[in-house]
Amino acid sequence: MKQIQKAAELQQAVHQAKDNGLQIGLVPTMGALHEGHLSLIDRALRENDLVVVSLFVNPIQFNNKEDLKKYPRTIEADLELIKNLELRIKNEAQATEVLAFTPSVAEVYPDGEPTEIVYHFGPVEEVMEGPRRPGHFNGVAVVVRRLFDLAQPTRAYFGEKDYQQIAVIRALLEQIKYPIELVPCPIVRADDGLALSSRNMRLSPAARQMAPAINATLEQAAEMSEYEEVDDVKEWVLDTLASYHEVNDCPDGLRFEPEYFEIVDAVTLQPIATWDDAGEHGAVGCIAVWLDGVRLIDIVKF
Ligand code: PAJ
Repeated sequence: MKQIQKAAELQQAVHQAKDNGLQIGLVPTMGALHEGHLSLIDRALRENDLVVVSLFVNPIQFNNKEDLKKYPRTIEADLELIKNLELRIKNEAQATEVLAFTPSVAEVYPDGEPTEIVYHFGPVEEVMEGPRRPGHFNGVAVVVRRLFDLAQPTRAYFGEKDYQQIAVIRALLEQIKYPIELVPCPIVRADDGLALSSRNMRLSPAARQMAPAINATLEQAAEMSEYEEVDDVKEWVLDTLASYHEVNDCPDGLRFEPEYFEIVDAVTLQPIATWDDAGEHGAVGCIAVWLDGVRLIDIVKF
């Protein structure tokens, strides 16, 4: 693994790799790596000759400045995790080199942080996270495009944990027409089912114990979908979580506060009224829930 902090240095390494006909895999992250991120890097290492992992806390995708300030920054530990993974799968990997790109804000945005909204993705960004986090997906698209330009990947890896983000990147690729293969990767969960997230470390021990109920509720919803209507499943999930503290012993006044739960077409992300509406794309349930002052998101495939 080699750490690179300068955009020009990354470009140089990429040009050389391209000249040699190498395939490049890009894994964009904001650092604070956990097994979820590592699963993306693992896959990229198996499918490409050179892997670029970016670790950059992108200020322009945070619509809440407090969230940006609180975002964990653990670069040294992150680099160790990448090195260990590289060693662990050395014999199975195709890639012979990993570049960990850890730029400063000025290196990513040499002309200053862009504040204009430059991307419009239509319906996929008008639901769920979109209206609740104004400017968020524009900020994601701006940084991802910059990373695409610098790393010129053959493939780019994204986790289904951020399900809507994948739809937005798909729309971005359609707009800018870059020949990059988008590779969606499944959610990695803790043993108790909680989707891994850097935000989980902000949960108190008691809240962390409660949090797996989100995935457990979604799993039950998947079973219910065999015989219940879409609206009934939706209502049941929201009610189950909102009343969880009334039925269970929750310490410290902890409770779930669901922000939304939508059942949508897996590709268009538009809400469906009947299971048939999703057709061959299938349906996905996407949830955002507050617990202990932390906003958690998760999905379930129906
Ligand atoms: P970040 O939250 O660091 O996530 C980086 C990538 O890891 C994303 O594609 C995310 O979906 C994936 N990921 C996170 N938790 C996961 C889990 N439990 N299982 C599988 N994949 C998981 O998403 C971002 O950063 C940023 O928006 C970024 C794309 C880097 C642009 O700044």
